[in-house]
Formats: sequence, structure tokens, C-alpha cells
Amino acid sequence: MPQQARITVEASHPIARIRPELYSQFIEPLGKCVYEGIWVADRPDIPQENGMRTFALDALRRLGPAAVRWPGGCFADQHHWREGIGDPAQRPVRLNLWWGGFETHAFGTHEYFDFCERIGAFPYICGNVGSGTVAEMRDWLEYCNAEGPTTLTEERRKNGSAKPLGVRFWGVGNENYGCGGHMSPADYAAEYRKFATQLRRVDPSVELIAAGYTAEYNRKLLEALITEREQSRELIDHVAVHRFFRTGGHDVEFSEEDYYSSVAESLLLDGDIVKADGLFKNYEDPSKRIGLVIDEWGTWHSNAPRDDGLFQRNTMRDAVVAAGCLNTFTNWSQRVVLTSTAQAINVLTHVIAVDGRHAWLTPIFHVFEMVRNHVGNDALTTNIVCPDLAGGDGSSGGVPQISASASADPERRAGVVCAVNRHISEPADCTVAFADLSVQSASASLLSESAPNVFNDAANPDRVTPSPTGVDVDNGGLRMELPPHSVALFSVELT
Ligand code: AHR
Repeated sequence: MPQQARITVEASHPIARIRPELYSQFIEPLGKCVYEGIWVADRPDIPQENGMRTFALDALRRLGPAAVRWPGGCFADQHHWREGIGDPAQRPVRLNLWWGGFETHAFGTHEYFDFCERIGAFPYICGNVGSGTVAEMRDWLEYCNAEGPTTLTEERRKNGSAKPLGVRFWGVGNENYGCGGHMSPADYAAEYRKFATQLRRVDPSVELIAAGYTAEYNRKLLEALITEREQSRELIDHVAVHRFFRTGGHDVEFSEEDYYSSVAESLLLDGDIVKADGLFKNYEDPSKRIGLVIDEWGTWHSNAPRDDGLFQRNTMRDAVVAAGCLNTFTNWSQRVVLTSTAQAINVLTHVIAVDGRHAWLTPIFHVFEMVRNHVGNDALTTNIVCPDLAGGDGSSGGVPQISASASADPERRAGVVCAVNRHISEPADCTVAFADLSVQSASASLLSESAPNVFNDAANPDRVTPSPTGVDVDNGGLRMELPPHSVALFSVELT
């Protein structure tokens, strides 16, 4: 007997317009993410465009437009941008301090920008606070964004980009509480002020992102940044946090308890957002909200070692968890301005996997492609009535079986609903209704597999892939049975 679930969408009070950056990506020279994942100039056997793997470009084009964060991660705080421009043969080779091996700088600023242009993405550069200087990051911004003519913009032109690169998002460091320098909130606030002051003068239009951490760290950071220096309030646009789910055991050989542990842990994101929302309200100017950026998130399983570039296989479990997170971001799109999974290729929660000449899409890719149908719509509140899940040991509870997000175009003629059944083994008989509106017709796409640990690989690249599925429209709403551990995307016509 399926569990009963009812989703009611409130169409009259939009949460916010959904920005494309809400569903973004992140790349770092870590494992096979940048080198081999994207940059394959030294592999003539792999189809490529200007040194970049065609498969990755095509796949990311399907997910765009969105932002792509680079060059880290922890690597950002060791990257000196001058080492990644100019003649590739002259670029220095350095130890990759965080992820092992060597950094050749073959993929530097211009290669990154070419990559963003090819996939239609907005660049999001994370600057070096941990080992760089204020002047170095200020010059990087001038090099990228200024019209010129200055010595730096002339250098950019000589390196192939006459027009400004228009980098809109700038992160001032990464995890500066840890790999970015082990700074206290007060130490980081002092650094942030110096960096942001100069960056604002070079290009006042860029969106500056401070590297946050826990709610308490963020409180101390904002206290130091804003309360103690009222005039530095204008230096901050957004605060970034990261959230990994690490309690789910092995990537593929996981138990029912592990499955529910991952699902339950992913709900911590909701708590992060609620805390940030409450905190930011105390510090922001009501006419200019502080945005929350969640620029690293996802599952991090026990067998994803540094020596193997944090590679893990992403299964239907990861897809269910990711879809729930993307629903959460959509539901908080008045506060969450940008998110990027960690990371786009091979690393942790990735959308593309590669192994030499082979490349394939993961179940997470399909979730992203489904959810991006929300972009440009108004996010709408969903009221969900469904059972809570019990954990594998029968004890956890408190995790709603269904997660959902909904949106509609501004005229309310068409809507999109993403619904996730988190139950590991039971289907859900799910109805969806739009309050005060009537569903005229509906189509659905379903990502579902026989077992939660099924994944794609080089031998079976399309094993987990969404397919169109039937959905009943009656009484102005829709109804469908959601299989266990599945993700459904409904597109509806409304009157
Ligand atoms: O995403 C992998 C790593 O995890 C990033 O480099 C770092 O910022 C985080 O701790």
C-alpha cells in the first residue's frame, strides 16, 4: 500500500524570481576535475574544442546558464593568477598543496574564461587571501574587468582578450577558517575589509562573497565587519558556507541505515539557511539584503580518498539527496543567491564522470537538468502533507518522506514542480494542486531505479536516466505514484 502525499502550491505569494546561479557548478584542479575532466589538450585521442573535452562542454551547455566557480576550493588560496597567464610553456609548475601532484597552470585565467564562454556560464572567481596580497587580487580584477587602457588591460589584450571578461562574482578567499589560513572571524574580517575596499574601487558592480563557516563564526564575522566598522557594511554582498554530508558510509555498498543517514544529514542545510537568514537580518540594510552563497555542498562518502582525487560513484541515493538540496535552495531563493555543488567532474557530488577517453553523465546531472526548468520562474511555497521517514534502525524520524519545490512563470500560465520520494523502499501516491489555479495538462519526467545504489559508469553510461512518464490530471490537480528513491519533474499548464 503506497504512502499518501499531498503537495499544495501557493501561487499567489511568490518567494523570489529564480536566478540561474541558484544551480551552479564548481571546478578545481583536484583529481580529474579540471585536468582530464575538462583540459585534455595533451590527449589528441579525446574529442575536444580548444583543449577542452567536448563531452564536458556539451553536458554543461545543457545545464547552463549558471555560474562556474574556480580555481578552488582550497587551491584558490595557493593560486597566483599571473602564473596562469601568458605562454603556457613558460608557466611555472608547482606542488598542488592540497590535492597532491603538480599544478602546471595549463588551465589558467584565459582558458577558464574560454571555458565559461563556450558553455554560456557566468564566471565566479575565488581569490587568494591565504597566500596572496590585496594588490594581487585587485590587479586580477582590473585585468579581467577593466575597460582600460591600462597596463593590465593591455596585457589582457595581448593575451587574447581585447574585451573585458566581465567576471561578476568574486569570492574573497575560501574556507579561511581552515585551508585558507586558519583565521579567526576577527582575523578574516580584517583581511576581508582590506581586500573588499580595493576591489570595490576597481569595479563597484561585482558581487563580493565573504567566506563564512558555522553560524557562530558568521555572527562573529558580521559583528567584526559591520558592527565594529559601520562604514564597511557596503563591502559585503554575500556570505558563503559549505555543507558536506559525510555519514552515509560507502558510496555503493551502503546499508539502509546509511541511506537514511545521508538523507537525514542533508536536512542540516535547511538549518544552515534558517540560521543564516535570521543572522543576516540583524546586520543587513533592509534595502540591500546579504545573500547566502552555498558554494560547496553534497555527499562525501567514506571511500572518496584524497589520493584518488575525492572520486566516488554517485548513485540514485546521491540523486535523491541532491534533488532534496536543490528543492531547499529553490524554496529559499529569497535568501540563497548562488549555490554550486562540489564539484562538477569526478569529485564528490559530480554531474559528469570521466576516465580517460570515457565520459558519462551521473544521476546528479539528470537532477540538475530537471530542476533547472525552474530558472526564470517565480519560486512558490509548497505545503506538503506526508509521513515522516523512519531510519534503517527504525528510530530516526523527523525527515519528511517527500521533498518538493514549485515555480511558475510570472503570468501563472505554466508551472514546474520537482518532487522527491525519499523512502528507500515504498512508493508514494502523490497529488499536486495549485491553490486558486487549475492544472489543465501535465507532463512528467521520472528518475527512478530498481535499487538506490545503482549508478552510471563507462560500461553503462545511460543506466540511470530520466524518462517521460504518465501523470493523471483530474479535479484541477495532478496525481502520480512516485516510486521509492525517485525524483519527478512535473511541467504543467495552468488556468
Ligand atoms: O570540494 C573539495 C574541497 O572541500 C575544497 O577544495 C574545499 O574548499 C573543501 O573543503
